[in-house]
Amino acid sequence: MLHRLKLSIKRILGQRIIGRIIGQIRGKKDLLELNFEDQKLINSIRKNKLTYLTIRKLVNLAKSCHLIEEKGLPGVFLEAGCALGGSSILIASLKAKERPLFVYDVFGMIPPPTKEDTKEVHERYRTIAEGKSQGLDGDKYYGYEENLYEVVQSNLKEFGVSCEEQNVLLVQGLVGLVGLVGRSRYRGEKAGLVAE
Ligand SMILES: C[S@@+](CC[C@H](N)C(=O)[O-])C[C@H]1O[C@@H](n2cnc3c(N)ncnc32)[C@H](O)[C@@H]1O
Repeated sequence: MLHRLKLSIKRILGQRIIGRIIGQIRGKKDLLELNFEDQKLINSIRKNKLTYLTIRKLVNLAKSCHLIEEKGLPGVFLEAGCALGGSSILIASLKAKERPLFVYDVFGMIPPPTKEDTKEVHERYRTIAEGKSQGLDGDKYYGYEENLYEVVQSNLKEFGVSCEEQNVLLVQGLVGLVGLVGRSRYRGEKAGLVAE
């Protein structure tokens, strides 16, 4: 019985490691689809441990930003949850500077999960709430930073993003889905999020 349990654990761990390696190889290949500047930016964001997103997700995000700007689509960017600001840096750097980017976050401890969330999410939250979570590559977990708002501001600045000049707005508060609300002062925008 114990032997079988050990084998299952080994198999799951093995699959996870293999999955991670395959993900990294795929990510590197995806990265080559971007121009050199974007590759450099993504590599630097990751090297500075500012994002939890995989390379593949970052590449998709970069491609979406370019597509939106190339097609001249109307609207704003709205990010729900930035942690240390890695994905915000990417969006802010690739979007047209006139187009606003709203970054919503509590800028503190991640809010507790709801009953709709999975058992794993609840377990993960327990670890975080008990102060036992670690950040990326053994860094301090971002949720334990006392001044996360300032940390994110400074991360953006380090990457040459000026919030004023590039229309980036950090909105602190607990975000809830409210369905579509009325048009805001940004023409054409319809927001589905509110921060309390
Ligand atoms: C997975 S992290 C975001 C990762 C980030 N985009 C990156 O590049 O690494 C999720 C973030 O959303 C925030 N968050 C989760 N639920 C929230 C809510 N209801 N209101 C505000 N912020 C929330 C968390 O505190 C955390 O900073």
